Amino acid sequence: MKIIGTGRAHPAFTLTNAMLEEILDTSNEWIVERTGISQRQIITNEKLEELAAEAARNALDDAGLSPSDIDLVICSNVVNEYVTPSLGCLVEGLIGASCPTYDINAACSGFVYALSTAEAYLRSGMFERILIVCAEEPTRMVNWRDRATCVLFGDAAGAIVVTAGDDLKAIRITANPKREVLRYERVLEPTPYITKEERDVPLFMNGREVFKTAVTSSIADVESVLSEAGVNKDEVKYYILHQANIRIIDSIREHFRQPVEKFPRNVDRFGNTSSASIPLMLDQMSREGQLRKGDKIVLSAFGAGFTTAACLIEWSK
Ligand code: UT7
Repeated sequence: MKIIGTGRAHPAFTLTNAMLEEILDTSNEWIVERTGISQRQIITNEKLEELAAEAARNALDDAGLSPSDIDLVICSNVVNEYVTPSLGCLVEGLIGASCPTYDINAACSGFVYALSTAEAYLRSGMFERILIVCAEEPTRMVNWRDRATCVLFGDAAGAIVVTAGDDLKAIRITANPKREVLRYERVLEPTPYITKEERDVPLFMNGREVFKTAVTSSIADVESVLSEAGVNKDEVKYYILHQANIRIIDSIREHFRQPVEKFPRNVDRFGNTSSASIPLMLDQMSREGQLRKGDKIVLSAFGAGFTTAACLIEWSK
């Protein structure tokens, strides 16, 4: 595959740490020191599908394509107001596309999981132009009285268009079931016959465990894709990691003994936007002219499941 267009969209409302101080027993100092987050954009009156459609249109414009040129839309999403139809169908309705579409849920690893799916389709020749849209509203999964989780997230949508090419040099996706460390449970509609116990559990996270697992697994994934591609860690121009926590990013960077500028970050402004975080960063860097043809870029993500995913690409846009 090769990436030929990128796009993103953010909700309008900015929630700062100072605003959180007014509703929670927390402080700007704690949040900045433990997470690196200063503010996040969160959904108020927007629908997630509208943000997803905006990101999709921006990626299509960037690629110089119209919705009818796309053969497949893959959406990465954990939660939105519709259980069915899929977010992909909602987005197609808004942008005026009518190709096959479905959603995947690999939590924060969803973007790289979607890339691996797109790569397989492009290799097989089944589809030629694929739109990947990662749209997430994790702020609707948390308990807003739980200071340990609600300060961490932001909402956003990021999108890319891919077609056949040679950008992808190595990819690895993994899953290691661990629902005890990170989950969000909800009760479905009642029936007269349900006898099992069910619970509504807003996002539960064992932060320390997730932190350790994220660092260990991301290091293993990155080492694996570097070795598969035969690329030395110093040859990599950027390591674009899932933006969950500045300390996770720095722990991984320190392991690889790389300079700060090779590990771009925007978690300070947007918080953890789940699977949208890597396409957001790619779009931001591409539009700011930071990505050059031939740059070797590692992408690495981790999230609920526990899922992880990493790949090495060579930018050709
Ligand atoms: O997308 C992937 C999913 N998530 C992640 O990647 C998150 C991974 N984990 C983390 O980022 C960190 O574990 C957190 C930022 C969530 C928490 O940082 P920590 O350094 O692991 O703190 P902790 O959970 O050990 O809590 C330390 C203290 C506790 O107080 P006591 O028990 O020491 O008195 C917490 O109650 O900090 C307290 N605390 C807070 N204090 C002020 C927790 N949240 C807050 C808060 N403001 N917002």
